Amino acid sequence: MIVVFLGPPGAGKGTQAQRLVEEKGFIHISTGDLLREAVRNQTPLGLKAKEYMDRGELVPDELIIEMIKEKLPEGGNVILDGFPRTIAQAEALDKMLAEMGKKVDAVILFDVPDEVVVERLSGRRIDPKTGKVYHIKYNPPPEGVEVIQRDDDREEVIRKRLEVYRKQTAPLIEYYEKKGNLVRIDATKAPEEVYRDLLNALGIS
Ligand code: AP5
Repeated sequence: MIVVFLGPPGAGKGTQAQRLVEEKGFIHISTGDLLREAVRNQTPLGLKAKEYMDRGELVPDELIIEMIKEKLPEGGNVILDGFPRTIAQAEALDKMLAEMGKKVDAVILFDVPDEVVVERLSGRRIDPKTGKVYHIKYNPPPEGVEVIQRDDDREEVIRKRLEVYRKQTAPLIEYYEKKGNLVRIDATKAPEEVYRDLLNALGIS
């Protein structure tokens, strides 16, 4: 099963993906995580991507498509988190999957208003050792776990990421609605309820 997670920054895509990996054995491919790893390792891709990420802009399509081509697994249940993010990426994904005899089986749209995004992202903290995602108010890290804040979780960059989402990524809602495989989830609910709705949407018990 190939599942696309679509939604604004901070909607909770990574949080829910983490749980589907732990409890249901999904393979999680997050273009944001892959890019941050490339930046940390100072690879040619990372060096190019960093300036776009720091500004809250999208990394150019050709770099992203190339990166995904290398990472798409042959089998297993896959969550694509943060990809595709433009119509060009969605078309490239359809082509890649068709060559493998596959297709996007479900697109989950995590619906949240902008005020919620800003509150969630400004309170987000990450454990750099495990990559686990926490929130200072909604999901505080356990005592003794040292956490850091992502460089692009500053308010002015969050606003820019939201603007980029509305302009460049939101058109994908119509793209997938036309294909008939988009399911909207109310992502303002508590993580447990969002997870339950997600399992229902995917037909998993
Ligand atoms: P990326 O890493 O993909 O960032 P994003 O889409 O902005 O998504 P986030 O990781 O910020 O949010 P999330 O929805 O996963 O929320 P989370 O679960 O952490 O991309 C970063 C950058 O990389 C982009 O700006 C771009 O430059 C580049 N990039 C990546 N992919 C690209 C592509 N395909 N093309 C071009 N460029 C690309 O939750 C957020 C917080 O809320 C956490 O603190 C969490 O604990 C809390 N929380 C989660 N759920 C709930 C809940 N239900 N209730 C209360 N709190 C909650």
